Formats: sequence, C-alpha cells, structure tokens
Amino acid sequence: MKNGFLSVALLGAASLSAACSNSPSASCADPDAQCTVGEAAAERGRFLGSTTGGRANWLSDQPELAPLLAEHFTSITCENELKWGFLSDARGEYDFTTADESIAFAEEHGHRVRGHTLFWTRLNGTPVWVFEALENADDPEALLIELMEEHVPTVVGRYRGRIAQWDVVNEPTAQFGGSLDPDNVFLQILGEEFLDRAFRLAHEADPDALLFLNEVFSVSPEETFQGLLDIVDGMLKRGVPIHGVGIQGHFVLEAPDAAEWASRFEAFANLGLLVEVTELDISINNFRTASDPFEAQADAYAEVVRACLAVDACTGITTWNVHDGETWLDTSPPFDVAAPHEPTLFDANQRGKPAYFAVVEAFAEGAASP
Ligand code: G3I
Repeated sequence: MKNGFLSVALLGAASLSAACSNSPSASCADPDAQCTVGEAAAERGRFLGSTTGGRANWLSDQPELAPLLAEHFTSITCENELKWGFLSDARGEYDFTTADESIAFAEEHGHRVRGHTLFWTRLNGTPVWVFEALENADDPEALLIELMEEHVPTVVGRYRGRIAQWDVVNEPTAQFGGSLDPDNVFLQILGEEFLDRAFRLAHEADPDALLFLNEVFSVSPEETFQGLLDIVDGMLKRGVPIHGVGIQGHFVLEAPDAAEWASRFEAFANLGLLVEVTELDISINNFRTASDPFEAQADAYAEVVRACLAVDACTGITTWNVHDGETWLDTSPPFDVAAPHEPTLFDANQRGKPAYFAVVEAFAEGAASP
C-alpha cells in the first residue's frame, strides 16, 4: 500500500458492525445469521451505502426510506442536497436545511457520510447564477477562483469532521475519448488547474476528509478509463491531495464484468489511491431475455461485490437509490422511456430482492478473486 488512507478508511467500516444483529456472535457466512447487506460488508471491512431522498422534506415525504437506510446500510450519500445548484440560489446565499437534516440522520444511526458533490457542471449540479456570472465577467478566471474560494470553505467547513469522504469534482471527463470534458465551463476557464485548486481548497477546509474524484466513464471503454487514470496520475504528480476515485456504476446498457472491474480498481490502487463504487444501480433491462431476470440481476450485483473484495483499496459500495420505486432512472430522460428499470436492492414495496441476498452472500463468501 502506498499511503495511509486505506487502513483508516477500512477500519472505519470494520468497527461499525462486526457481527449480525440476529446472532451477535455468528459470522455472516452462517445462513442462520441473517446479516443485513451493511453487516455483511462491514465483516469484510467495507461500507455498504445508499442515498437519501435527495429533496426537501424527504424524511417526512418518503417515510419508508429512513428505516431501510437505518437498518440495512452503513453509509449515506446525499443524493442532491449538497450540490451547489441545490444549496444556493444567489451568490453568498446558502440553504443547508435539507443537508443538515440528512447528515444529522446519518449521524443518529452511526452511518458514514459521503459528501456529493462540490463541483459538477452537468444537469443542475451548478447554480444558473454561477454560469451567468462567469459569462458576464470581465475576468472569468479571477471570478471563478473567487467563487471556488467562497464555496468550498462554506460547505466543507460547515461539515468539517462530519463528512468522511467528499466527491470534490464529479464527472470532469468527456463522454467519449478519455480527455477532460471540453464542455465543462470550469475547465474551459482554468484548465486542469481547476481540479488541483478544488482539491487543495477541500483539503484546507477539512484536512481529515478523504477526497475523491467521482466519474461515470471510469471503467470502460478502455479509452475513457485510461484517460481518467492519466488525469489522476497527473494530479498525484503535482502533489494534489486526492485520495480516491469514485467509480459510479450505473449499469443501464450493459452488465458488469467483475474481472474487468477488479483490474481497473487495481490500476487506481497501484497509484496509491482508494476506489469506491459510489453510485451502483443495475437495470433489470440488461436481463430481460434471461430465464430469471432477477436472479441474473442478483449475479451482476455479486460480481461487483467480488470485484471490490478482490482489491484491498476498494472501500465500499453505494447503491444509487434505496428501492425500485424511487430510482432516478425511471424519471430522468432519456432513461425514463425504458422504465421500469428496477435497478436497486429493494423492490418498490421495500422487500429485499434476490440482488439483496446475493450481495450478503458475496460478502459472506469473501471471495479473493472475481
Ligand atoms: O426538488 C425539486 C422539486 O422541488 C421540483 O419540484 C422538481 C421539479 O422538476 O425538481 C426537484 O429537483 C429534482 C431533484 O433531482 C430532486 O428530485 C431535479 O429536477 C432533478 O434534476 C434531480 O435529479 C438528480 C440528478 O442527479 C441531477 O442533479 C437525481 O435525483 C440524482 O439521482 C442524479 O444523480 C446523479 C449524480 O449526482 C451524479 N452521477 C449521475 C447521477 C444520475 O444522473
């Protein structure tokens, strides 16, 4: 191992829960133990997380989420409420109401919190006023630096010591070709210096937080993976405080291949970085022709667990949305046309699916290689 982050990150998970609630002394490999996914993952020193409701008043408007999150998971990612676009309608104005509630909820249940995300220029990750201000600025470079110097301490500083891991920058690479995204306005203005500055500011605001670059095009094709590897390698060589790469894991068009995933994880680990599967969902549409689509989906989830277990630097897995009734895929164009995707561990009635039990089993087996 090339840095000290791994032991810190894994110790955190292991200390959460080393035995199953129904049988405190049994290992999750014992079928009578009935471990939750979180307990089974913790036994292997990994986090198993999911997302908050991601909108104002989610705790009261989606009352089914809290008990599922509390009982089954060990980590929580704020789906939307820490995004700049969600927090701020005008320069200098922030509304932390929902984020505060989500983080207090996680703490109440002893869950780790992943901070998602400081900088994301797609969809509504950045407020419209930021783009307008930059467009109208005489010196966009100076303005962007000022805005970054305001935003990062305001958000990271507020939750210093409470958010264990930050997705400092989300999706900075292009959809094709493995380069940085030419349409990303922050990169257009500052170049790669944007990434370095974002991570340095986050490190200053909370020196103990683990800082991740979170990316959707991180595993395949080869070209985008290689491009991302080069980008983070460059950051490390410039001494930027980056500690890990978030591999999102939205499987809408293809199912995961554990061996490929493990080899990608290993490549990041060889640079001294942590990896974490940060946004896992696997659409049932991948398996429509299988004799039992839900069993096939369960196998796919187990593949991801095996890939994570094969690499020490893999700190955990977060499913993107808790149950099938609230998946972002069913309401977000263009994916909504193929709804229902049923991509999570729980069905829309909040019952554990075959995928849920496959995840428990894969962690319990503790497979050394995918
Ligand atoms: O909360 C408002 C509500 O007040 C309003 O009435 C309604 C009208 O459209 O919008 C609601 O906001 C929506 C928000 O989710 C909360 O539900 C936004 O329109 C909608 O765009 C937003 O979508 C989120 C999307 O990111 C864009 O921020 C999804 O929930 C969220 O799952 C998705 O997550 C992203 C990750 O952050 C990064 N990786 C890809 C992933 C999927 O796109």
